[in-house]
Amino acid sequence: MNETLRIQQSHRSIRSYKPDPVSDAILDQIIAAAHRAPTSMNAQEISLIVVRDAEKRARIAELSGGQMRVAQAPVFIVIAIDFHKTDLGVRKAGQTQIIHESMEGFGVAAVDAGIALGTLITAAESLGLGIVPIGSIRRNPQDMIALLGLPPLTFPLVGLCIGHIKDDMPLKPRMDIKTFRHDERYDASGYGTTCCLDFYTTILEWAEWSLVPQFARLPELFKGCLTTSVHQQQIRISVLVWIFDELSPRHFDEAHGE
Ligand SMILES: Cc1cc2nc3c(=O)[nH]c(=O)nc-3n(C[C@H](O)[C@H](O)[C@H](O)COP(=O)(O)O)c2cc1C
Repeated sequence: MNETLRIQQSHRSIRSYKPDPVSDAILDQIIAAAHRAPTSMNAQEISLIVVRDAEKRARIAELSGGQMRVAQAPVFIVIAIDFHKTDLGVRKAGQTQIIHESMEGFGVAAVDAGIALGTLITAAESLGLGIVPIGSIRRNPQDMIALLGLPPLTFPLVGLCIGHIKDDMPLKPRMDIKTFRHDERYDASGYGTTCCLDFYTTILEWAEWSLVPQFARLPELFKGCLTTSVHQQQIRISVLVWIFDELSPRHFDEAHGE
């Protein structure tokens, strides 16, 4: 196994960080890796906001439902969908941008944001640093937007804590790989017998949360999320984001045990 695979296969989220800073040189390398990552049509409709200021991180921790790891880790990177800069480009070409109005546009940007997130993770972990993604920044999107000075047609989709590991974590279990990998054709035949899906209904003794109550509440959450979204400045994007949101940010603090 090569070094990249070893790092990827030993991933675990870290929620306890030393106060030691991450140097500019190291941070630059991590960000350069994500900058080189692919984006659909090379549209590059992703922006990173690097937050090192302690007060700002403390505020983000608060806005994210009291996730103190955000205040503790010396670096927090927000990955924002950015149809603002693409809009400038499209306008310059004398056209009108409409991609941000479609579910397709959101899908494109969310995939690219995920690729950027994954690339940042591998880069940071390859340098011996710990990370944890933070989806709870969507808990108070309007306040996040104001705090970060985000322009219209942008949306803070996910954040990433980066820092030196204080308390390490064991690798969390994954379901049987047969539930993940399907060759040539989807195959659910083993789900009932291999106990793969019991995973969802079990509160693992060392996991922070059980998925089922969160996912089972989604219909109820749609309504609340959409209601919240109509107050957003970036209404079109935020509505789509809320619909796709894998969990309710309002429940993320309880979900992650804080
Ligand atoms: C998009 C995304 C959002 C996440 N949001 C949070 C979060 O807000 N708070 C947190 O503590 N962990 C968060 N996590 C971390 C997951 O809980 C974690 O990856 C998962 O439980 C598996 O654990 P592992 O990363 O240690 O393997 C997030 C992960 C992803 C991919």
